[in-house]
Amino acid sequence: MTIGLLCAIPEELEHLRAVMNTVSTRESARIRFDEGFLDGHRVVLAGTGMGKVNAAVVTTLLAETFGCRVIVFSGVAGGLDPALHIGDVVIADRIVQHDAGRIENDALLRYQAGHVSFINPTDALGYSMDAELLATVQDTLAGVALPPLSTSAGGRDRPPRIVYGTILTGDQYVHCEITRQRLQRELDGRAVEMEGGAVAQVCETVGIPWVVIRALSDLAGHDSALDFAAFAAEVAAISAHLVRRIVPVL
Ligand code: ADE
Repeated sequence: MTIGLLCAIPEELEHLRAVMNTVSTRESARIRFDEGFLDGHRVVLAGTGMGKVNAAVVTTLLAETFGCRVIVFSGVAGGLDPALHIGDVVIADRIVQHDAGRIENDALLRYQAGHVSFINPTDALGYSMDAELLATVQDTLAGVALPPLSTSAGGRDRPPRIVYGTILTGDQYVHCEITRQRLQRELDGRAVEMEGGAVAQVCETVGIPWVVIRALSDLAGHDSALDFAAFAAEVAAISAHLVRRIVPVL
């Protein structure tokens, strides 16, 4: 079985590229796809670029052209849950596209992407990770101890935590404390990013499971751009490390 590995940006991609044994490189839709092995397991690695459309294009190619039967996204996110710190890892048991829905009275009423309540209604909001796969990932990572982040990368005197919960996706970089609090309150999101919900949507459409792993590069508030610049590369390594732990059990 071939596993599709995705990242959005070079800072995330480089960690997996460095440890993968690349056998061939192909281009499709101007995207580079590295085919080869990660610790002996057959993988295809690609960078999506930022945002939902970019992520959807590359996920579709991984599934349909490269024959991947499971997709793992590895990268960084902004933290929404105030209990979490930079470097902590959120693995999505559910993903919601927080910017999809219907505008009424100048306000967004969230609804599942690709649906409108009076055209093609649905009760679904978001995408759930495959339950069996989630249990396998939780078992596999249960004993994993992550090394503390360097203090220059926002590290505290504690190792990063791994938690499971809702990740929110939108075509918006969140750099606002008010929005951060609202997203957490309204959707119980633990982290926010810009691709995972599109990966999950495509995977649901083509009928394959997905895993989204995000290490927090920032806390999505007023400092988030600065923090992202300072910490993204180092925390992305944490996510890539966890990918290597779960690839053997997929
Ligand atoms: N990815 C990393 N940090 C983010 C943020 N604050 N908002 C959206 N996506 C992110």
